[in-house]
Amino acid sequence: MTTLSLPETDNQAWFPVPILGLVDDGDLEFPVYLPGSSKRPPVLYAKPGGAFDREREESLASGGIRFVLVRKVDRRACLRRLEKNLEFLARDPSCPVEVRGKLLHEAALSAAEDVFAGRPDREAVARGERVVRCIAGLVLEDRSSFLAIRRVLTASTRLAAHSVNVMILCLGLAGRLSISSAELLARYGLAGLLHDLGRVGAPGEGLDGRKEDPGHVTRGAALLAELGLPEEVREAARQHHERHDGSGYPGGLAGEEISPVSRVVALVDVFEGIRAEHSGRIGLFDCFRILGTSHKGCFHPEVVKAFLRTFGA
Ligand SMILES: [Fe+2]
Ligand SMILES: [Fe+2]
Repeated sequence: MTTLSLPETDNQAWFPVPILGLVDDGDLEFPVYLPGSSKRPPVLYAKPGGAFDREREESLASGGIRFVLVRKVDRRACLRRLEKNLEFLARDPSCPVEVRGKLLHEAALSAAEDVFAGRPDREAVARGERVVRCIAGLVLEDRSSFLAIRRVLTASTRLAAHSVNVMILCLGLAGRLSISSAELLARYGLAGLLHDLGRVGAPGEGLDGRKEDPGHVTRGAALLAELGLPEEVREAARQHHERHDGSGYPGGLAGEEISPVSRVVALVDVFEGIRAEHSGRIGLFDCFRILGTSHKGCFHPEVVKAFLRTFGA
């Protein structure tokens, strides 16, 4: 199968979308453009209110067009439409893994922004859950998929972006712990995405200059119980600040008393905080070094070893 290449675009203004992702019987809520070239700007292809159904997709594909462009300002509306085809897009081998990773990351961010926008509801969490499952599927596909997805980690310390980054790294690390069941792997990802849910609505909810807020762990676990999330996910919200040497909170649990999913989320959470804080200035291995010095003995040794393997060490 030939792999598609992306059209050349001004990345600031445009969002390339595989045409398969837009197929739906509902009307478009945003305009769709055909890629231009270095001399020609993108051309309007379909107006809002128009259709983008299977027939249109086939006609574009028969002309060799596999990507269209959507304006960045229409990102949210476009992602809502793409979400319906996410499982299919995630598994489409003709779409480069970088493109799939980027789209899944965008979809995860969009879902996370809704989850953390206010008191989360079951629907917002279910959207997040779907994206996590798709990314888990991609991580299980092969190791290079994780490397591609890892590249999309952002430097933002906002709660939604932090949670998506933790989710992605949890999936990568859980994959290295020989967890090969898609269902269980997705729970590690979901635990990463929702570990800080208790911070929603709390003062200083971003992670920048935050005050320590020990109460977020029990608030988060209670919220997740109300939403009917699985035990592993609730436990990770409650235990992700517990430490292997017993120095954490809220219970001062140590070693094997901390659940396996929580051990993973705990390490990734701290690492991600260090990575985001120093992003662009120091490499990943320096982040590990800082982690090793500032959190000696805080994490399960097997998890630390697997995490190093995640980054090819
Ligand atoms: Fe936390
Ligand atoms: Fe966190």
